[in-house]
Amino acid sequence: MKSLRLSLAGFGVVGQSFVKLLNSKQDYLREAYGIDVRLVGVGNARHGFIYREDGLDMSLLLELSASNRPLTDYEYVRHWDTLLKGLPETGANVLVEVTPTNLRDAEPGLSHIVAALRQGAHVVTANKGPGALAGAELLALARQQGVQLRMEACVMAGTPVLSTLLDGMAGARIQSVRGILNGTTNYILGAMADGRKYAEALAEAQAQGYAETDPTADVEGYDTLAKTLILAALVFNQPLKPEQVERQGITAVSFEAVQQAELEGKRIKLIATLQRSADGLEASVAPHVLPQNDPLARVVGVTNALTIQSDTLSEVTVIGPGAGGLATAQGLLADVIACAR
Ligand SMILES: NC(=O)c1ccc[n+]([C@@H]2O[C@H](COP(=O)([O-])OP(=O)(O)OC[C@H]3O[C@@H](n4cnc5c(N)ncnc54)[C@H](OP(=O)(O)O)[C@@H]3O)[C@@H](O)[C@H]2O)c1
Repeated sequence: MKSLRLSLAGFGVVGQSFVKLLNSKQDYLREAYGIDVRLVGVGNARHGFIYREDGLDMSLLLELSASNRPLTDYEYVRHWDTLLKGLPETGANVLVEVTPTNLRDAEPGLSHIVAALRQGAHVVTANKGPGALAGAELLALARQQGVQLRMEACVMAGTPVLSTLLDGMAGARIQSVRGILNGTTNYILGAMADGRKYAEALAEAQAQGYAETDPTADVEGYDTLAKTLILAALVFNQPLKPEQVERQGITAVSFEAVQQAELEGKRIKLIATLQRSADGLEASVAPHVLPQNDPLARVVGVTNALTIQSDTLSEVTVIGPGAGGLATAQGLLADVIACAR
C-alpha cells in the first residue's frame, strides 16, 4: 500500500468538492490502486492553515464549512495564520492547490506551489495562474526536485485533455490544437444563436451559476487565454507571455453576426488556437465562424472541446465538462493517483 499525505490550499467550491470526492473514494483508492490517501492539512484565506499529523476527518471539515464555522474550530490541530508559514513544518508529500486564479502575478498560488516543490512535495493544481504565467519555470523546478507538477484540472476540468496530449498521444508530434475552453462564453453564444440578446444571455448564464457576477475573465477571453498559455508551455514546450497571444472575447460579437451565421448554417464560437509555425508557435483567442461539419461547431452549452492535429493521428477531438466542482475534483483526483503511481 502506498501512502500519500495531502495538504490542500483553498477550501472553496473546488477544494470542498475535492474533499467530498476523496472522502467517498477512500476505499476504492485502496482496493483498486493500493493507495492510502490522507488529508493532513487544509488552508484558506480567512482562517489560515490547520494540520493534523494523523490526518484530518474529512466529514468533520465539510461539516464545519457547511455550518459556516472556521477551520480553527477543528480541535487538537496545529494552526498557522497562513499556509506559507505552516507548510514547511508539515510532512505532506502532495500539495493540492486550489486558490483563486490570478493572471496578474499568479499569487497566492505561485508562492504556495514554489514552497511545496522546494520542500520536495508533488503539486496538483486547478489554479490556472501559476501554469499560465510561470509554467515552464515551475516544471523545471519540479524536475530539479524530482517531483511532479500536474495541472489536468486547469484545462477542461476533469476531462482528460492534458493526459490525452501528454500521455495518450505520447510519441506523436502535436501540430496544432483548437478548442472551446470556456463554458460560459459557449453558453452565451449558444443562447444568442437561439435568439436571446447578449445581455439576456449573460444574465441567464449568471442565473444558472455558469458566469460570475463580474464576468470579465470569461467574456473578455482571459480565462481561455490562461488555458492557451498552459497548453503552450506544457504541450508545445514553447512558453508564451500573455501579450504574445492575440486575445478577443465575445463582447464585440453582435447579435446580428450570430444570427447571420445561423442563417448560413454556421456557428460562432470562441476558439483558442495553437499552431506550430516556422517561427515557433502561433496562438490566439478569438471568435470564429465555423462550418457545421467542424466538430467544435456542434459543442453546445457549457461543454468544452479540444481538436488535436498530429503527425500520426490526423484529428482527435476530446469533448467533456470544462467546469464545476465535481468535474474539477475528478481532474485533481486523477493527478493525485498519477503522483502515487
Ligand atoms: N469552479 C470551477 O468550476 C473551476 C474549474 C476549473 C478550475 N478552477 C480553478 O480552481 C481554483 C479554485 O476555484 P474555486 O471555484 O474553488 O474558488 P473559490 O470558491 O473562490 O475558493 C478559493 C479558495 O481559496 C482560498 N484562498 C484565497 N486566498 C488564499 C490564500 N492566500 N491562502 C490560502 N487560501 C486562500 C479561499 O479562502 P476563503 O474561503 O477564506 O476565501 C477559498 O477557500 C481557481 O483557481 C479556479 O480558477 C475552478
